[in-house]
Amino acid sequence: MTTDPDRPTIAQLRTLFLFESLDADQLAWLAEHGRMETRAAGSSVYTEGDPATCFYVLMDGTVSMSRRVRGDEVEVVRTSQRGVYGGATQAYLDEQVSQLYLNSLRAISDATFLVLPAETFAYAVRTWFPMAMHLLEGLFVGMRDTQTRVGERERLLALGALSAGLTHELNNPAGAAVRATAVLRERVAAMRHKLAMIADSRLDARVLHRLVELQEDAVKRVAAAPSLSALAASDAEDELVDWLDEHDVTAGWDLAPTLVAGGLDVAWLARIEPAVGRENLENALRWLTYTVDTELLMREIDEAVGRISGLVGAAKQYSQLDRAPHQVVDVHDLLDATLVMFKAKIPSGVRLVREYDRTLPPLPGYAAELNQVWTNLVDNALGALGGSGTLTVRTVRDSDFLVVEVADTGPGIPEHVRPRIFEPFFTTKPVGEGTGLGLDISYRIVVHKHHGDIRVESVPGSTTFRVLLPLTEPTADG
Ligand SMILES: Nc1ncnc2c1ncn2[C@@H]1O[C@H](COP(=O)(O)OP(=O)(O)OP(=O)(O)O)[C@@H](O)[C@H]1O
Ligand SMILES: [Mg+2]
Repeated sequence: MTTDPDRPTIAQLRTLFLFESLDADQLAWLAEHGRMETRAAGSSVYTEGDPATCFYVLMDGTVSMSRRVRGDEVEVVRTSQRGVYGGATQAYLDEQVSQLYLNSLRAISDATFLVLPAETFAYAVRTWFPMAMHLLEGLFVGMRDTQTRVGERERLLALGALSAGLTHELNNPAGAAVRATAVLRERVAAMRHKLAMIADSRLDARVLHRLVELQEDAVKRVAAAPSLSALAASDAEDELVDWLDEHDVTAGWDLAPTLVAGGLDVAWLARIEPAVGRENLENALRWLTYTVDTELLMREIDEAVGRISGLVGAAKQYSQLDRAPHQVVDVHDLLDATLVMFKAKIPSGVRLVREYDRTLPPLPGYAAELNQVWTNLVDNALGALGGSGTLTVRTVRDSDFLVVEVADTGPGIPEHVRPRIFEPFFTTKPVGEGTGLGLDISYRIVVHKHHGDIRVESVPGSTTFRVLLPLTEPTADG
């Protein structure tokens, strides 16, 4: 037997409940590989997050175990019970879990520990308790996979709900483009007939030339036509109808709305007669109206298609498909893309206010995941608003952090609920409505992946979630 004062004796080991089933050989092996260590009152034994190199068993003294919870050190347990253990408790799982201390241990009084190097402890568990080892492995790894899978599922659910909204958004411009195209086809066919009629009227080449010039000018005016209020448009139409009546143009009321929409007024119409002659006025006018009409339709198609590609762009920005997972992003692009995805889900009674600090520098981050964060916060805010109120999305800078705030004027988070909102599966929503994962996932993305922070301030009528993201790239893995 060893007499080295740093080595535990077999007799000492035998008194520990952890080792009660071990035989003499096993105890001797442990005595040989372990060491006794005393820590002074107040000193740290190991620290959460550091590589877990040792397994500790308390022999004597009082210790405090604590965990960091959102920046605060929270004591989990304080004990003097001989035989309690901590440290590299998952060493036998090897690289299946990250081998870091999951909590911190401090000596409250002078305390003595049996210390086993992590590999020694792992070896002992694996060789002496193979079956228990397999069971534990299944439990840990299985649980972690479940959590990951639940997270992925949540992500898909959110995307599903939002893509339904997007489909709805796409329908309007797509329908508008299809309708405008059908009308345009009719108009172009009618113009071909008109052309035949103009040819029959044997306009001389100079007149035809002037007509084409007027046509070019009309096209330019359509492009620059201001959009008038209903009242202003109707006034302008009345004026045109009067002018057309005075000039013996039949059914002037039919032409006036198109001419007004195209930005043509009485002064412009007055240029037609001198150019083509009184006898050709009506035909020329109808021909020009067709031109305006087709231009307007093409502009409508252009706008609709522009809206469609804008939406598709936002969806792409939102999903970050085909993009590198980690990149430097303009956070406003991400916020806007997310809000586009929400457009159909924002009730008419909710006012959306964007207060962006456009001078903010770009942010290094995982764009698709950050979109998840805004999605969850906006979804919660809309849930809290329940149909009316104000949703504010704000960006500000706070020293080295970019801050995104999502605020709502809803009822607020009750005092007794607040400590639990970031817990997985915590929800106050009816069964089937909330999974309670929104904030848990957001917290993990912001705090673990981006080394930032999420804070919340809430009073009735004003709830603000603040997401702080470091503007400088952390050295960590992510
Ligand atoms: N803006 C808010 N106003 C009031 N309460 C909120 C707000 N945001 C979150 N909460 C509270 O926090 C709880 C947890 O939110 P979390 O997003 O994690 O889950 P959930 O919204 O209930 O469900 P899920 O997001 O999975 O659909 C909510 O059930 C709600 O009680
Ligand atoms: Mg939620």
